[in-house]
Amino acid sequence: MFAVHLLAFHFTKLKEDQITKVDRFLHQLRLSDDVLQDVAARFQAEMLKGLARDTNPTAAVKMLPSFVRSLPDGSEKGEFLAVDLGGSQLRAHQVRVSDDGKQSSQLESKFYPTPKEVTQGNGAELFDYIADCLSDFMDTRNLKQKKLPLGFTFSFPCKQTKLDEGVLLEWTKHFRVRGVQGTDVVSSLHRALQKHQDIDVDVLALVNDTVGTMMTCGYDDPRCEVGLIIGTGTNACYMEEMRHISLVEGDEGRMCINTEWGAFGDDGALDDLRTEFDRELDLGSLNPGKQLFEKMISSLYLGELVRLILLKMTKEGLLFNGKVSAALLTKGKIEMKHVSAMEKYKEGLSNTREILTELKLFPSEEDCVAVQHVCTIVSFRSANLCAAALAAILTRLRDNKKLLRMRTTVGIDGGLYKTHPSPKCLWGETPHTQAAKSLEYGLKREAQGQATVKMLPTYVCGMPDGTEKGKFLALDLGGTNFRVLLVKIKSGRRRSVQMYNKIFAIPLEIMQGTGEELFDHIVQCIADFLDYMGIKGARLPLGFTFSFPCRQTSIDKGTLVGWTKGFKATDCEGEDVVDMLREAIRRRNEFDLDIVAVVNDTVGTMMTCGYEDPNCEIGLIAGTVVANVCRMKEHKQIEHEFLYEKMTSGMYLGEIVREILIDLTKQGLLFRGHISESLRKRGIFETKFLSQIESTCEDSIIVKEVCAAVSTRAARLCGAGLAAVVEKRRQNRGVERLQITVGVDGTLYKLHPHFSRILQETVKELAPQCDVTFMLSEDGSGKGAALITAVAKRLHNVGQK
Ligand code: BG6
Ligand code: GLC
Repeated sequence: MFAVHLLAFHFTKLKEDQITKVDRFLHQLRLSDDVLQDVAARFQAEMLKGLARDTNPTAAVKMLPSFVRSLPDGSEKGEFLAVDLGGSQLRAHQVRVSDDGKQSSQLESKFYPTPKEVTQGNGAELFDYIADCLSDFMDTRNLKQKKLPLGFTFSFPCKQTKLDEGVLLEWTKHFRVRGVQGTDVVSSLHRALQKHQDIDVDVLALVNDTVGTMMTCGYDDPRCEVGLIIGTGTNACYMEEMRHISLVEGDEGRMCINTEWGAFGDDGALDDLRTEFDRELDLGSLNPGKQLFEKMISSLYLGELVRLILLKMTKEGLLFNGKVSAALLTKGKIEMKHVSAMEKYKEGLSNTREILTELKLFPSEEDCVAVQHVCTIVSFRSANLCAAALAAILTRLRDNKKLLRMRTTVGIDGGLYKTHPSPKCLWGETPHTQAAKSLEYGLKREAQGQATVKMLPTYVCGMPDGTEKGKFLALDLGGTNFRVLLVKIKSGRRRSVQMYNKIFAIPLEIMQGTGEELFDHIVQCIADFLDYMGIKGARLPLGFTFSFPCRQTSIDKGTLVGWTKGFKATDCEGEDVVDMLREAIRRRNEFDLDIVAVVNDTVGTMMTCGYEDPNCEIGLIAGTVVANVCRMKEHKQIEHEFLYEKMTSGMYLGEIVREILIDLTKQGLLFRGHISESLRKRGIFETKFLSQIESTCEDSIIVKEVCAAVSTRAARLCGAGLAAVVEKRRQNRGVERLQITVGVDGTLYKLHPHFSRILQETVKELAPQCDVTFMLSEDGSGKGAALITAVAKRLHNVGQK
């Protein structure tokens, strides 16, 4: 066992060392968020330059009008042919769009290779080859006798003046065919097709692959207004307002613009971000100085970029004992497929070893780890840059529509996007998506055992509807205070809720004594309260707010999963707390109560607020002692979950601050390096100090900063969890925007100077499609427990009738 641990430790250490080494070497390839924002801003400026008639001639990003004016509307029908040149292969397609009113399409395809003779030969041969492939395809599909319209996807920059005409501006990617640049490719294809007497096709449209992709996706999703390719090359198109396209007559409506973003940076706009490797790669390419953005992103180049990096690292003695192999010196020896294989999640390392061995590099374990990390950094930068430019397009679309927020769809295609093992880098993994994943996991039955977020059903199945009435007792255990309440609910026109409550202390020896002692004490408090209110004889229904994790099998049964927040009474975990309370009442034998419901405080809070605001479907507690949230589920049942309590709830924040202060003092940064006796004492630093210090203490800037950092993290984490909950609610409802109210309670939320603001801002940032109203629960969750009891009674009565 020991050996295994030692080995694991050694490997982790080795990994860390290698990763740090590579990170240091490639620091220029790691782009911060600020830099990416800047790239997006630069691309925005480039788009403007390309769109305007006077600046277009010198613009690097050409913003080519496509003459595609609208997206498919579903009324299209018929049979079409398509031929598609410019990706990793030549493709021929037969598309049948049915006219049966069901908006369905069928696609049959055949792929043809594009060898070097084709991609780097002469024009006539290229178009003959395309015509031959199409003729072969029509043969296989038995289409020769038909007259069919043809769409020509030609994935290179073309200047179009109409839909069926386009002059090639420049070859890109691995193509450099003589005699085509500056000529109309549609007529060239037409001429080649005419040589085939047995086929009769009409080339109706010339489209870039981005435009084709947008149209394909637009057929299924009318919101699609962007097309993106991340494959051999990279490029994007989007629907632009005609009034902004000064190269084309007319101001009405929109037209799809092929941005040709691969050329971004060709005028030097990205020079500060390009590294020596980018420059070397460019010099060795078919088109030096051209398509500089594409060369940092697309699959045709990433393998070569990795090779150049490995070569330099080896020459500097950082890899393979400084020994370079002939293969590593050969251009093109590392391809994108190798990079992807090396980055695979599980097999990645063994793939890396295999690939490096094939390159005759004799890698050590350290070498493999380092090379894998090089690949990740190169792919990560590619995805980041692509996302930055896409963000610029999306912002432009939103600005064009004068919207604050916009819902849109991006159609994407390309080998790199589809097959690279970690496409998630493109979109990034936010705390919010992580939180959402934990919630999903917690909800699954099979995961209940292992899930960290427990998602406990509560069996509360209805919200108050105003018809509830009567007198109810409520207990509230688990917050700062233990309270017993009498709640009088009136229905109808005089609808109101009146509350009387008394706070009781629970001494530490009871909190940490036996279960029997704890419940006897609770019953003692109830007896005092009933005496005090003069209602000892009445057998009142009771709701029990019990703010600890309970697994419920019905509304009045709750098995304590485990104590939290300083409670430690023995013989309670795994027991039904309602039973324990009933037994304690029986033991005392002085009065009887009808225990109807056991509820968590979040649920109580939600109910309290729900009584005032029917939109309230979520309850949140950010208190001195706990941070937790609950929400209504589809079938009107409530589930609740804990929000990483030790990092967010008040009880622990003071302790975190104390630990940090001790650490800073040890480093001589505070209190002249002297740790006072009181600072050594656990619990000396309470959360309420945190709130006070942040608002009043001016002289101790460091302490104030520490407090601010700790509580900001707590509020952000709490906000991330809540954002995941509301966003899930929105998705379940299938709505684009969700108006929702969250009932909130807890001293941290109520008293801390910034907690509530930061929490609200975080939710807004992470769940942008949800309009969340925060409703402070002034009456505590006890009122909610009474309301739940009232609802349960009402439902029970209806059931009986
Ligand atoms: C395809 C498009 O789906 O994606 C092509 O139809 C395009 O036109 C291609 O060029 C890009 O992918 P790749 O990886 O083959 O370059
Ligand atoms: C290149 C081409 C462009 C194409 C892209 C993706 O950038 O210039 O037209 O859309 O590759 O294939």
